[in-house]
Amino acid sequence: MNGETKVYAVIGKPVRHSLSPVMHNALFKKYGINAVYVAFEVFPEQLRDAILGVRALGIAGLNVTMPHKEKIIEYLDKVSPDSKAISSVNTVINSNGELIGYTTDGTGARKALERFTNVEGSRVLILGAGGAGKAIAYELAKYSDVVVLNRTPEKARALEKFGIKGDALTMENLSYYIEWADILINATSVGMGKYESLVPKELLREGLVVMDIVYKPIKTKLLKDAEKAGCLTVDGLWMLVYQGAESFKLWTGIHPDVELMRRVALEGLRKGK
Ligand code: ATR
Repeated sequence: MNGETKVYAVIGKPVRHSLSPVMHNALFKKYGINAVYVAFEVFPEQLRDAILGVRALGIAGLNVTMPHKEKIIEYLDKVSPDSKAISSVNTVINSNGELIGYTTDGTGARKALERFTNVEGSRVLILGAGGAGKAIAYELAKYSDVVVLNRTPEKARALEKFGIKGDALTMENLSYYIEWADILINATSVGMGKYESLVPKELLREGLVVMDIVYKPIKTKLLKDAEKAGCLTVDGLWMLVYQGAESFKLWTGIHPDVELMRRVALEGLRKGK
C-alpha cells in the first residue's frame, strides 16, 4: 500500500462477518491492482454522513448491504434502471466524484444458476418476496416464467407489475408450483443457522434444480433433502460469489476468477465458525 492505494468498502449493519473483504482483497492481489477492501459498520442514522465521507475521501467503490440497500438511493447521483425498478442498490461506483448505484443481487443469482443449468425459457419458483427474492425474481423474469410465493402474500402480489405471478406460501400452492417448476429457489431466511426448511422433502424430485440463498450453513436442510431426492443443487455461496464478481466487474472491468473467490470465501466461513 502507498499513497496511490484505492479504497473500496462494504457498508452495512451488521457487517463484521461479511465475506466480501476476503473475496475482493484476494482478487486485487491476483490482478495486481493497487487497492484495498474494508468493512465499515454504518448505523441507519449515519448513512447520509457516511456517503458524504465516501465523497470527501474519494472512496472508489462500495458494496451496500442490510439495512441500507434502499435508503442509499436518495444520496446517490444516479442509479441503474434495474436498481430503480426494484429500489435496491448493492454496488456503488465513484466515477470522478459521481456516485452511481447498481444492483448485482439478481444477476449474481442468475449467473450462479447458469453455471449449473439453463435458465432461459425455464419455469422458476421463488420462495420469498423480501429484498433478495424481489431482486432475483425481477432479473429471472427477463428470461424465464417466474412465480413467487411469500408468507405475506401482498408482497408477492406486488411483483405482478413486472409480469411475475405472486401468491401466498401455502402448502397447496407449494405442492402445485413445485410440480410445475424446473428451478426452485429459497430466497427466504429460513434455514439460516437452523436445520429447517419450508419445503417438505416429499415434494422434491429428480431433475428439479434447487438453489438456496442461505449459505450459513452451506448445506441447508433444503439442499440436503434435494440432494437425497436426486436434484441438482446450487448453494448460497455461489450466489454470494457471483454477485461479488459482478460488482468487481463494474469497478475494474475484469471478469474475475470465481473459483478463487469461492475458495477464500469458504475459508472465511470456516474461520468464522
Ligand atoms: P432479504 O433482504 O434477505 O430478502 P427480508 O427482506 O427481511 O430479507 O426478507 C425475508 C424473507 O423471508 C421474506 O420473504 C419473509 O417473508 P415475509 O415477507 O412474509 O416476512 C421470509 N421469511 C422469513 N421467515 C420466514 C418464515 N418463518 N416462513 C416463511 N417466510 C419467511
